[in-house]
Amino acid sequence: MRVFTGIQPSGDLHIGNYFGSIKQMVDAQKNSDTFAFIANYHAMSSGGKELSKLTMQCATDFLALGIDPNKSTFWIQSDVKEVLELYWVLSSFTPMGLLERAHSFKDKTAKGISANHSLFSYPVLMAADILLFGSEVIPVGKDQIQHVEIARDIATKFNNQYGDILVMPEFCVQEEVQTVPGIDGQKMSKSYGNTVNIFGEEKNQMKVIKKIVTQNVPMEDPKEFKDCNVYNMAKLFLQGNELIDLQERYKKGGEGHGHFKMYLGEVIWEYFREFRDKREYYEKNQDEVREILNMGASKAKEVAMPMIEKVRSVTGITY
Ligand code: ADP
Ligand code: TRP
Repeated sequence: MRVFTGIQPSGDLHIGNYFGSIKQMVDAQKNSDTFAFIANYHAMSSGGKELSKLTMQCATDFLALGIDPNKSTFWIQSDVKEVLELYWVLSSFTPMGLLERAHSFKDKTAKGISANHSLFSYPVLMAADILLFGSEVIPVGKDQIQHVEIARDIATKFNNQYGDILVMPEFCVQEEVQTVPGIDGQKMSKSYGNTVNIFGEEKNQMKVIKKIVTQNVPMEDPKEFKDCNVYNMAKLFLQGNELIDLQERYKKGGEGHGHFKMYLGEVIWEYFREFRDKREYYEKNQDEVREILNMGASKAKEVAMPMIEKVRSVTGITY
């Protein structure tokens, strides 16, 4: 089974990215043929500031978080340029209405982010990413489901005309981490400035966690944990008794949300400790990261070439 995911190098990775996508990918390495890439062309659609720096940062983060280049094919999107060719071909199988209905485009424009063509046609490039590699399963957060559905629609249209060429992808969303909340309770997202980042200074991390929005309840009173943003973040990191213990602390009263925030800060810091150490190693050995990425691009090309050649052939691009 081919499991496939990409992430935009558009800023620091946060725990929503980790639980919504990266962790699922790392776990999938155990028993699947996994493909992970840094979507640098995609990042251009929303500004693409400091692109080359952020691309290397994102690659370093991915390796630190457990993407294993011996198990996964791991590369930078722009190192396999055939994706742009497929993007163009697929554009001819993409009705405008399909893109006009895309939530991510609608949400961003509603938030005043000015729309350019690449933001609009983004789902077609994402479809090309997925379909070029014959991807079967796409682990994503809830916000990306529609994009995978668009890829399926485009693939269906293409296959209706040319036969069974493109593999139909399926999305995979982990129920319990569908949408990780940000510090304001909305979906955690780089573009909403409400993230808890994976890597960063401990002091800053604590500062951000202290800002998590909570209800105003007197210290001695019992507290509701179900709708609490602190609890909902903590439960991603805790299991079994640890989680039950935290619930008990809420129910008992006597502690304020500040205490739960302190605890959450410690839990998060501890959880990512080994990843931070690994990150430090890769940070100091950027040549090794580049080597890994080059190797990944070669492996990715081996898979992409037969597919693009098939597409060229059936569409008549080769003559
Ligand atoms: P952002 O919204 O911060 O820009 P991206 O759009 O780059 O994040 O998302 C990268 C991956 O992380 C996607 O698979 C997305 O579904 C997942 N993801 C992002 N934010 C969350 C979240 N709050 N909860 C769950 N998954 C998320
Ligand atoms: N659109 C995804 C995001 O913003 C990133 C992405 C690009 C992707 N191409 C992909 C994810 C292909 C999965 C598969 O998070």
